[in-house]
Amino acid sequence: MGQWILTEVTDGVGLIRLNNPKALNALTPELMRELTDQLAAWDADDQVRVIVITGNEKAFAAGADIRTMATASAVDMLLSAYIDLFDRIDRVRKPIIAAVSGWALGGGFELAMACDMIVASETAVFGQPEINLGIIPGAGGTQRLTRTVGKYLAMEMVLNDRRLTAEEAARFGLVNRVVPKEEYLDAALDLARQIARRAPIAVRLGKEAVKFALESTLQAGLQHERRLFYLLFATEDQKEGMQAFLEKRKPQWKGR
Ligand code: CAA
Repeated sequence: MGQWILTEVTDGVGLIRLNNPKALNALTPELMRELTDQLAAWDADDQVRVIVITGNEKAFAAGADIRTMATASAVDMLLSAYIDLFDRIDRVRKPIIAAVSGWALGGGFELAMACDMIVASETAVFGQPEINLGIIPGAGGTQRLTRTVGKYLAMEMVLNDRRLTAEEAARFGLVNRVVPKEEYLDAALDLARQIARRAPIAVRLGKEAVKFALESTLQAGLQHERRLFYLLFATEDQKEGMQAFLEKRKPQWKGR
């Protein structure tokens, strides 16, 4: 891949490091393009089971690239595809974990929220400061945030740039765990490796089912869950998992 992201794969885990350090990992359209191309490539690659996205210690990402947007017209923004690229993250079937240290602001926070899990360093700061620029969040910040923290806190964050420390984010259910700053990436990779060793089709359908909960009524969600549950009884891994339990041994997953 190009210059905007750095990648490596170990133990079934694909790691993407955002690489725009001079601008605190501001999300240029080129960076978002490379990031989402890589996600799509790994989604189709059997060697990768789980994906981790991280920045650096100082910044996960400080938002969309203000330099690119400063003189843009509405039509420029519409045609730039920058925000549409966030929809590609939503289409990834493998689990994505954000490993966040330092700033996760604006589009950076929206990127973290588009992931499936968030592991935060104690130094992480989450916020939607777009109001300071005379705009509002445009890549999910008013929607994903509100679904997680509720109307009142979301209003304060979107209308008045209220920022959350890692501990506050944990209290409001926005992050999976907060760890010391030296450990955030290892903790995210460790979580990723654990999930990467699990039955791949069950992981895929589990992600699909949980995401569906955000899109549907309870009854439609329960029906959807049931169909996915039945479908797993068509897999070799279900037979293997239950047989291994009865034989008191570790299962050997095939992803079939
Ligand atoms: N876009 C472009 N460049 C950015 C940037 C961004 N979002 N955030 C930081 N930078 C650049 C700064 O311009 C600066 O560059 P120079 O060294 O060339 O001057 C460099 O990164 C370091 O930043 P600071 O000197 O400002 O660092 P700091 O430690 O004093 O402050 C900060 C850190 C509080 C994060 C501050 O940089 C800041 O407020 N950044 C902007 C945050 C923001 O408003 N994000 C929302 C963007 S809009 C958006 O995201 C909308 C959307 O997705 C749809």
